[in-house]
Amino acid sequence: MKQSSPVSRSGRFGSGPGRDAAQFTESVSFDKRLWRHDLVGSIAHATMLGGIGVFTKAEARRVVRALEAIGDDIEAGRFEWDESLEDVHMNLEAELTRREPAGAKLHTGRSRNDQIALGMRMWLRDEIVELEQELRSLQQALVVLGQANGDVILPGYTHLQRAQPVYLAHHLLAYVEMIERDRERLLDAFSRVNVCPLGSGALAGSTLPLDRKQVAATLGFEDRQGRPVISQNSMDAVSDRDFAVEFCFVASLLGVHLSRLAEDVILWSSSEFDFIRIADAYTTGSSLMPQKKNPDIAELARGKSGRLAGNLVSLLTLLKGLPMTYNRDLQEDKEPLFDSADTVRATVRLTDAMLRHTRVNADVCAAAAADPVLLATDLADWLVGQKVPFREAHHLVGEVVALAESLAKPLDQLTLKELRGVSRKFKAAALEVFDLKQALAKRTATGSPGTGEVKKQLRRWAKRLA
Ligand code: ARG
Repeated sequence: MKQSSPVSRSGRFGSGPGRDAAQFTESVSFDKRLWRHDLVGSIAHATMLGGIGVFTKAEARRVVRALEAIGDDIEAGRFEWDESLEDVHMNLEAELTRREPAGAKLHTGRSRNDQIALGMRMWLRDEIVELEQELRSLQQALVVLGQANGDVILPGYTHLQRAQPVYLAHHLLAYVEMIERDRERLLDAFSRVNVCPLGSGALAGSTLPLDRKQVAATLGFEDRQGRPVISQNSMDAVSDRDFAVEFCFVASLLGVHLSRLAEDVILWSSSEFDFIRIADAYTTGSSLMPQKKNPDIAELARGKSGRLAGNLVSLLTLLKGLPMTYNRDLQEDKEPLFDSADTVRATVRLTDAMLRHTRVNADVCAAAAADPVLLATDLADWLVGQKVPFREAHHLVGEVVALAESLAKPLDQLTLKELRGVSRKFKAAALEVFDLKQALAKRTATGSPGTGEVKKQLRRWAKRLA
């Protein structure tokens, strides 16, 4: 490792940092993944500097060409990163200046403080765009599974106890709704990520007549009307990372939603439930027990949500109490942010693929949903139709359930006589509530698991996601 970094330590410093200090402070080992965005930002900056006369036209052209050539070399794996040059910015600038002497003017009116804020914002914009697509695909996978099993009814649960019957599609669409809110939060966060900080300098801008709006427009920092969006306070722009915190929050909440979906998949694929079967490619075996097929993808999806929450807390703790403006602490923002983006995107993609390779055991679901006791509430509702106050109806049906249990009979096998032994309000028609198809057809309110309503919701989502 070289002993000094020529860009930041020239002039004032007698010696370079020691080896351990250099290793402690370097970030290129992880921030090199920002190289493309850093180069594109530098090209926009160089072009603007050409416009205001810092570079001659010819110099600006040569610098841009050299930056592009460096990009080609990195792409082709021909670039050697040097940890003694600290970070991605100084690696690229040092290489530029080696290739093109006019590169020494590139850092005019710019600091690594606004440069890194720029690079991270550009990088995160791309991640958000990709994640948004991946979320749509996951929503589609849920809708497709619901459509392919449109008639499947299973018990809905509260307290993990069988509660009331629902369509499988209704259960799946609950996740589509959750993910839709995550998608909205993501797109909303995008508008705050998409603000150009370049021109803020180290903290106090520049004495030079930089054209901030031109740079912002070149780099696509624009609002819906196509107007350039630039940060309005240089101190804020170089030191805040709330755009990163926001992304990590959206990712952790999304992670929590995915962990719940994963838990359903894990439960449903167990022998106890046996509602679904995950394709072999998305399960793993045991090294000891030959019969095992484990839902590891779903378990990891559930587990990774913990990491996402951890990254969010890391970032919040990092920022808490930091004095204005840039502090080197901020270099610690990258790994949690990168990890959250990588983790949440992989989890979304794998969950999507797993669902597309899962089949539903319709018979098992039907058998589980067939227990008439799941319609006990419908029987109480029937009494309400006979003008019995609900609290009383609830009590009477409780007695009916206890009677059926004591007679070891399913609820729908009680005779009218037995029912009327509990209350004279019962009539023969009461027993009709145990027709499951009818019970679901009767649920017509928006948002209910009714036959017509679920079909409508499936159509609405299929159209919206097409
Ligand atoms: N690698 C640094 C970071 O990620 C870039 C900014 C460094 N600025 C400075 N003044 N040391 O935060």
